[in-house]
Amino acid sequence: MPVSPAPRPESDAPPPGTGSRPDGGPRSARPAVGAELELSIDSLAHGGAGVARHDGYVLFVPGAVPGDRVLARVVKRKRSYAQARVQRLLEPAAERVPEQAHHPGVPWQVLPYERQLAVKEDQVRDALRRLGGLSGDAVEAIVPARQQWRYRNKLEYSFGTDHTGRLVCGFHEPGRWDRVVAVDDCLLASAAGNAARELVLGWAREAGLTAHDRRTGEGILRHLVVREGRRTGALQVRLVTTPARLELDELALALGDASLLWTRTEARAEITSGGATELIRGSARLPERLLELELGISPEAFFQTNTEMAETLYETAREFAALEGWERAFDLYCGIGTIGLSLAPRLGELWGLEVVPDAVRDAQENAERNQISNARFEVADVRLALRELTEQAGRPDLVVVDPPRAGLSAKVVRRIVECAARRIVYVSCNPTTLAPNAAQIVEAGWSLRRVRPVDMFPQTPHIECVALLERWAAGGG
Ligand SMILES: C[S@@+](CC[C@H](N)C(=O)[O-])C[C@H]1O[C@@H](n2cnc3c(N)ncnc32)[C@H](O)[C@@H]1O
Repeated sequence: MPVSPAPRPESDAPPPGTGSRPDGGPRSARPAVGAELELSIDSLAHGGAGVARHDGYVLFVPGAVPGDRVLARVVKRKRSYAQARVQRLLEPAAERVPEQAHHPGVPWQVLPYERQLAVKEDQVRDALRRLGGLSGDAVEAIVPARQQWRYRNKLEYSFGTDHTGRLVCGFHEPGRWDRVVAVDDCLLASAAGNAARELVLGWAREAGLTAHDRRTGEGILRHLVVREGRRTGALQVRLVTTPARLELDELALALGDASLLWTRTEARAEITSGGATELIRGSARLPERLLELELGISPEAFFQTNTEMAETLYETAREFAALEGWERAFDLYCGIGTIGLSLAPRLGELWGLEVVPDAVRDAQENAERNQISNARFEVADVRLALRELTEQAGRPDLVVVDPPRAGLSAKVVRRIVECAARRIVYVSCNPTTLAPNAAQIVEAGWSLRRVRPVDMFPQTPHIECVALLERWAAGGG
C-alpha cells in the first residue's frame, strides 16, 4: 500500500527525532516483548509514530499522538528503543479531532490540519539541525495542501478475505501483511476512483474469484491499482493477479471509458510493480495535464501522487532555479521528465537521467508532445552515469535532483559536487536523507539557501520539500 502509516526502524540505532541516549539507558529499564505498558506520548518521531519514554527508554507507538495516554504492548525491542502497539486509548490528547476515514493510511487524521503542518515544518528544521549539523534558518513556511482529502491520483489496493470468507478490496492493516481492511470509501481517492474499485470488486465477487493467499498459494487476485488524470478525468485500472487465466471482456465493458490493464506476476512480495502487463482496453499511458504540460504516464513510471500540489512543488523548483534562459540543466532521477520539462522553456538545454526505461520513453514523448526540442532523456543509473553525462554534455549550471526516499549515496553526492553547478535544487520526499546529503554538499562549498516544505500528503506524516544550494554568494561570480 502506498501510504505507510508508521516507521519501522530496522537497525539498533534509535530512529531520528527521539533524542534518546545512545546506550539506551539502564538495561533493567528495557521492557520485554509482549509487556503491556501505560505510556504518555510526548512527541512525534520522523516517520509519524508517537514517542513515549518508560524509565528513560524510548518507545515508538504508531497511531498515538502527543498528549495521548495509552495502554500499549511492546512488539519489537532493540537495544536503545522499542516499538509498541496501542491496545487501548486510556486518555486522548486534548487536541485530537474525530477520525473521518475508517481505513488505514491516514494516521495523522486525528491531528488538526494546522498542527500537522507545524509538525512537518518542525521536523524539516530538526532533521537539518540534528542529522545535518546545519542551521534550520533556511526553512521557510510550509505550503499547505489545496485539498486535505481526496487528493491522491493513484491508489494501490490489496485483495483479501474478511472474517466471513467474503472477498474484500482495501488496505493492509498496519504491520499485517496477512490482513486486509475493506474500504468502501477511500477518503484519499476521488469519487470516480472509489467507484472504479467497487465495480471491479463487484465483478470479481460475481465471477467467484478469490484473493491470493501467500501461505497456501490459492486464489488469484492480488492488487488493484487505480490511477486518475486529475485534470483530464481519465481513469486507469490495473488488475494484478497471479499468472492465471481470466476472462476480462465483461469487466472492460463495465468500466466504460476507463482503461484496463492486467498484470500477472509470481512475485512473492506484496508489490504492484514487475510482472507482465497487458493492455486489455483503452490506453496504456494515462493522459494528464500539469502546469503548461500535456503528459502521458506509463503504468510502471513514477508520477507524483498529488497532481495539484506537484504543480506547487515544481513551481517552487522553478522559482529556486532562478533561470535566465541560457543555462544547461541536469534533471537527475527525472521520471517522466516533469520537473525538467517544466523548466525547459527557460533553459538553454536539459539533460535527464532515469533508470526506468518506460519512464524515459514517456519523458521523450512528453517533450515531443509539448514541442520541447532542447531536452534529452537517457536511461541510466545516476550512480554510474553522471561523470559520463558531464563529459558528453558539458558542465551544468543547474542540477535538479529528486531521488527516492533513501536519498543520495555519498558517492552520488561526490559526483554531483564534481559537476560544479552553481545551483543545486534538491526535491526531497524525506528530510532525514535530505539533511545528511545537504550537509555533504555544504561541506564541499555550497550554501544551503532555502528549504521550502510543501504538503503533498495531508493526514499522513510524509514530508516533501525543495531545497536550494548555491555555490557562490548571491551576486557573486
Ligand atoms: C521521487 S521519483 C522522482 C521522479 C520525477 N522527478 C518526478 O518528479 O516525477 C524518483 C525517480 O528516480 C528513479 N530512480 C531510482 N533510482 C535511480 C537511479 N539509481 N538512477 C536513476 N533513476 C533512479 C525512479 O525510477 C523514479 O522515477
